[in-house]
Amino acid sequence: MHSDMRFSGHLVALRLATTRIADTFFTWGLRNGERGRAVSRNKDPIPWERHLAWFKAFTEVHGQALYIVDIPAMQGLRIGTGRIHHVDQDDCEISYMLSEAATGQGVGTWLVAQLCKKASHFHYANVIAEVQPDNLTSCHVLEKNGFHLESTNTSDLIRYQKSLA
Ligand SMILES: CC(C)(COP(=O)(O)OP(=O)(O)OC[C@H]1O[C@@H](n2cnc3c(N)ncnc32)[C@H](O)[C@@H]1OP(=O)(O)O)[C@@H](O)C(=O)NCCC(=O)NCCS
Repeated sequence: MHSDMRFSGHLVALRLATTRIADTFFTWGLRNGERGRAVSRNKDPIPWERHLAWFKAFTEVHGQALYIVDIPAMQGLRIGTGRIHHVDQDDCEISYMLSEAATGQGVGTWLVAQLCKKASHFHYANVIAEVQPDNLTSCHVLEKNGFHLESTNTSDLIRYQKSLA
């Protein structure tokens, strides 16, 4: 899999999110949209103030990171987001989402690969991803990235795992 990814002919980048309004607003919009709520554990819309507090608290935890997928050559057009959540010293969990217009062209597969690379830089040994069983696109993207089905857990999510060793 190439580390360079192009969308509409332009290179796609992954960068750390900032607490400036544009990144917080973009991630809030993705989370609260129909697709974002559908894949979230908590399906309720998140009020803006709560999102701001969550965003700040999330990025302050050591071993966690929130990234923005954007296109530098298109004035930094934001097309997605990815997160690394700290679980314990060895394990992290990833989550990711693209704007609908950016799907179906390989960016999701590339994004999961980039998140695994970042997790490796954080010295995690394993990456976990929990997915709704009917989210076949996400299951396929994880499998293409070398994840293996680990278990079906009590919250009706299926758990994929990849060893970075
Ligand atoms: C999951 C998501 C990131 C995938 O991004 P994407 O850019 O569309 O993914 P890609 O184009 O890299 O790959 C999609 C793959 O799924 C396949 N696919 C699409 N629909 C599918 C289906 N119903 N069943 C099986 N495979 C499917 C595609 O054929 C493609 O595989 P291929 O490259 O081998 O042909 C994107 O759909 C998204 O943001 N979804 C909403 C949020 C979400 O589900 N997040 C994950 C929660 S854990």
